[in-house]
Amino acid sequence: MSVAAAGSYYYYVSSLNPDPNSKIPKPFQTKTEPPKLDFQKVYNRIASILDASDYDDGSYAPILLRLAWHAAGTYDKTDGTGGSNGATMRYDAEAGHGGNAGLKVARDLLEPIKKEFPSISYSDLWSLAGVAAIQEMVCLQNSLSLFLFSSLM
Ligand code: HEM
Repeated sequence: MSVAAAGSYYYYVSSLNPDPNSKIPKPFQTKTEPPKLDFQKVYNRIASILDASDYDDGSYAPILLRLAWHAAGTYDKTDGTGGSNGATMRYDAEAGHGGNAGLKVARDLLEPIKKEFPSISYSDLWSLAGVAAIQEMVCLQNSLSLFLFSSLM
């Protein structure tokens, strides 16, 4: 091993194991954890905006599900491109594609939630909205079934 390589290795190892008695100022040794995002809070917020008596059939859930599906459905397994990562439908090329017509409603709807929880990525927000849409619709479906079933008994 050359002297330069040995020096860099020593530097690398010492940076991994900082000496507690070192005179180097603290900020170079401390590790700050990024604040944890509470996904359940974001989910609850999405769930709270689904019902809308003045929109379509009374719910934004279907269009949010379609947004999540269209964002993810561009994934190409052969070269790994596309997919929900990067939320590329924010940009004109994809937003203006005929297959994505109408999805601006869903993207705009989620914008205030993105502002409220800035640390969530657009791709995670859109995917989570799709999950919330399905779960909340299933919950509603189950409550209706239970109601109908119990009224028949
Ligand atoms: C290749 C397969 C698919 C085709 C060609 C297709 C096509 C369409 C079309 C033409 C619409 C009407 C859009 C409009 O409002 O003008 C639509 C709506 C919708 N699609 Fe698909 N779709 C496909 C697969 C899927 C899948 C896999 C899902 C779920 C994961 C899905 C979820 C929805 C939902 C929820 C709506 C209603 C959106 C709303 O009410 O605003 N679709 N689809």
